[in-house]
Amino acid sequence: MANVYVLDHPLIQHKLTYIRNKDTGTKEFRELVDEVAALMAFEITRDMPLEEIEIETPVTTAKTKILSGKKIGLIPILRAGLGMVDGILRLIPAAKVGHVGLYRDPETLKPVEYYIKLPSDINERELIVIDPMLATGGSANDAIHSLKKRGANNIKLMCLIAAPEGVELVKKEHPDVDIYLAALDEKLNDHGYIVPGLGDAGDRLFGTK
Ligand code: PRP
Ligand code: URA
Repeated sequence: MANVYVLDHPLIQHKLTYIRNKDTGTKEFRELVDEVAALMAFEITRDMPLEEIEIETPVTTAKTKILSGKKIGLIPILRAGLGMVDGILRLIPAAKVGHVGLYRDPETLKPVEYYIKLPSDINERELIVIDPMLATGGSANDAIHSLKKRGANNIKLMCLIAAPEGVELVKKEHPDVDIYLAALDEKLNDHGYIVPGLGDAGDRLFGTK
């Protein structure tokens, strides 16, 4: 069964408060999302495998550890997922980045896929699907199905804020996918927005509306 991790590090929670605040402008919102993404990446990579190598320090020979070459792929869901990519790349600079373009139909709230471009070897990579918001879960669920259809077999999902409905859907459809959140909120409102949430992540990141 999938695990759900709420990353309650004080720095993540502090920055998330400013991200949620409606008076936080686009520039600061973008910077904070970037910072929280980096902090979350630090936690999400905790289980990365290490191997021992021998090196020469200026003093002696030492056996020390390096990452054992696990290949990572970041898969932001367009648009809002883009806001988290650079923060994660600062910690995992060699990761490849694929994109899944989905938008929620405002009437039905169902996701519509309009773009997909992935690294050719996704079946050999640990993929981190990135989206700030997991609301009904429709977008993340479809994105993960799309990736699996193309051969992905090792997927984590990373979101800033989730509603219980979204978590339940992804857990039910993808019991193999662990979910990493900065916060699990109370509910969805009648328009499919997370409550208390942060509003429309894409609009707040890109200054649209
Ligand atoms: C938002 C958000 C998620 C999706 C979450 O995207 O970034 O992708 O909604 O909702 P769900 O869990 O109910 O599917 P939106 O459709 O607003 O597109 P955008 O990122 O292009 O603004
Ligand atoms: N998408 C958003 O950007 N915000 C929500 O609260 C729900 C879906």
